[in-house]
Amino acid sequence: MNTYRFPDDFTWGVATGSYQIEGGWNEGGKGESIWDRFCHTPGNIKDGTNGDVTCGFYHRYEEDIQMMKKLGYPTFLLTISWPRVFPDGVGEINREGVDFYRRMLTCLRENGIKSYVVLYHWDLPQKLQEKGGWMNREMVAWFENYARAMYRELGDLVDNWITLLEPWVISFLGYWHGVHAPGYHDYSAALTAAHHLNLAHGAAVKAFRESGLSGEIGIKVNMDMFYPADPNTPADIEAAVRANAEHNRLFCDPLFLGTYPQEFMAYLEKQGVVLPQILPGDMELIHQDLDFFGLNNYSDAHIRAGGAWPLYGTMVTTGKPVTQIGWEYQPESFYELISWLNDHYHPKKILITENGCASNDWVDDDGKVTDSIRLIYLRNYLKQVYRAIQEGIPLKGYFVWSLLDNFEWAEGLSIRFGLVHVDYSTLKRTPKASAYWYSQTIKDHGF
Ligand code: FCB
Repeated sequence: MNTYRFPDDFTWGVATGSYQIEGGWNEGGKGESIWDRFCHTPGNIKDGTNGDVTCGFYHRYEEDIQMMKKLGYPTFLLTISWPRVFPDGVGEINREGVDFYRRMLTCLRENGIKSYVVLYHWDLPQKLQEKGGWMNREMVAWFENYARAMYRELGDLVDNWITLLEPWVISFLGYWHGVHAPGYHDYSAALTAAHHLNLAHGAAVKAFRESGLSGEIGIKVNMDMFYPADPNTPADIEAAVRANAEHNRLFCDPLFLGTYPQEFMAYLEKQGVVLPQILPGDMELIHQDLDFFGLNNYSDAHIRAGGAWPLYGTMVTTGKPVTQIGWEYQPESFYELISWLNDHYHPKKILITENGCASNDWVDDDGKVTDSIRLIYLRNYLKQVYRAIQEGIPLKGYFVWSLLDNFEWAEGLSIRFGLVHVDYSTLKRTPKASAYWYSQTIKDHGF
């Protein structure tokens, strides 16, 4: 008997990202992406690795799909690499790139695995970055052009679509903190990039509706619950409110309410930030009907007043255990976040499109990988999903990040998030204990 019994129609899946697993960075006519450029620039990646080869999914997708089938994973969330299909971002389409995705999606179909396909997971064509990237408003039209082409070329093979992945990460880690490609440090540029991302999302949803394709469309947003470091200190409370506005509301408010958080924008303007230009029709374009909202979450944030311009808030630790990447294990706040999202925005349907745990796993002499930390993490985070469902929140699916160990952006290959271990010298795959546990959980509709 299960204590945690999930609904029969609950979606169980695993998530991945193009640059993180494909490799084949310069094969099959693919153009250079900003992540190719960023990783090939010494000093940007902590362990000096890159995504040139990583898991080699570009050549091994059949093996990986067979493995997923064997493990009983019914849904696969993957990304298209924009420069693989449009080497210059716009202009001529690269047939070889499109064919790769057609073969892979066909293989998924043949193995009875459903797909969620993300259009953009950070690997922007370098050629478009040279025209300003997300700081340039023309990105909206370029993205729409790319989205329409993908609906046309792959629409018959894709079950569901996702426009963008983690717009906060793209804009603020890429254009303000500079730890992600393209590595800039300009707050006003980040805010403008955020607006253009919101617009690009809206344009892609609108184009999808016009395409007449079946299936659903949504977005994947990374959100955290923000708490004041000291709930009795007004300055901490205010700092946490600002952080929440930047991370969560800057994207959710326009998506669901068709507005930006006005008091936050006014605050930023007072700080000397140049606000993005909002043209007539912009807010309507962003505010599209979503079939589902994809929530990505791993941890939470405790904010103390003080620190860098313009938010003047610093993240502090609470002393909770951390995973290999340094993020605190905070399952309770996962539930609080889901509730907050539901209460504030009433999404039609929520999918947890990413959740998972990094741990320093290796293959033991007996050929096994005993990743107990991940297993416990997943189980306890899933209990919070269960709790939300019990309370009537329309939470309909869960995807583990990630199927495979893969290239973890600025952290490189050393940080392992996979249910399946990858030996980067041989590319051998070894399902970990958590992979088998997840199989059983899916089979039993719970645990
Ligand atoms: C998310 C990213 C994903 C992966 C996980 C750990 O922010 O979307 O690619 O890096 O974090």
